[in-house]
Amino acid sequence: MLRKLILALSLMLAAPIAVANAKTTEKHPEEVHWSFKGPFGHFERASVQRGFQVYKEICSSCHSMKQLSYRNLGEPGGPFQAVTARNHETGESEIVLGAPGEGKKLVDANDNPFVKVIAADYEVAEIDLQTGDTVTRKARPSDRFHAPFPNEGAARVANGGALPPDMSVLSKARKHGPDYIRSLVTGYVDPPEGLEVPTGKYYNPYIPGDLSSFWKGDPRQVPEGGLIAMPPQLMEDRVTYADGTKATPIQMATDVATFLAWTADPHLEQRNAMGLQVAIYLLVLAGLFYLAYRQVWKNLH
Ligand code: HEC
Repeated sequence: MLRKLILALSLMLAAPIAVANAKTTEKHPEEVHWSFKGPFGHFERASVQRGFQVYKEICSSCHSMKQLSYRNLGEPGGPFQAVTARNHETGESEIVLGAPGEGKKLVDANDNPFVKVIAADYEVAEIDLQTGDTVTRKARPSDRFHAPFPNEGAARVANGGALPPDMSVLSKARKHGPDYIRSLVTGYVDPPEGLEVPTGKYYNPYIPGDLSSFWKGDPRQVPEGGLIAMPPQLMEDRVTYADGTKATPIQMATDVATFLAWTADPHLEQRNAMGLQVAIYLLVLAGLFYLAYRQVWKNLH
């Protein structure tokens, strides 16, 4: 009886593992020591800014970012947060990018001039309450990110039937999110001989998939990875970075993965700062308790 039970249990445990093994044939993404990993993690602001540029100039023509508004870019921890500070030379107060601190006051994200400029590149349709007509106006910081397609059908038609996933939380929704995104977008290689890639699809070793039905070679050596409907995007110098950083494919991939890690978890830095404060508080409290303990028991030792 017991033996049967153990057998049944072990089968139950083994079955999902076997299934999982059959499906995960993709290459493990290259691991990066991201600055935002770990309890003291923080985002490299310049990289998030560059990553936004990559998203804006390349990825946003197919991938939406529905959960973000332009103003999020200028909120505390965001890539374009700005402060009013006194210019040392002219003595006048001016608005500059940066975090609040001594003599620097955070600018409300809705009034942030950097965010306003970014938003004003887009148009939003609105109903004119006087005439009832649809009119367009420039986007404001409070508007949601512009979506590349009006609906899922239009997105699929433009992408050969495949749907470019919304990118707001993609980095959290995938295993090893930032590593995976970075490796995937730079990981396109020529398909191995014997792999029949249908038109409109591309071979990529990092995308999870099962290539056995496209593989004409040895059935025991099905290539790792899968087929993806997204054409390779990151060619050398496809963007021109404002800060002069050389736009190599791996640089753009690292930056856009950093930006997507921020969009998926914009409050990471505040949470870590809070965690640190709590840890210090607990440490001080533990010290006080220890002293109190010594005081209470001092005559009994
Ligand atoms: C020409 C349109 C297009 C552009 C531009 C584009 N993508 Fe894609 N992307 C797609 C499509 C379509 C898919 C879905 C592919 C599929 O399902 O086979 C996709 C899928 C992905 C995936 C895989 C998501 C998953 O489900 O695991 C990632 C990651 C990705 N894109 C990142 C990017 C990044 C980063 C950029 C900008 C550098 C970008 N894409 C630009 C069309 C595009």
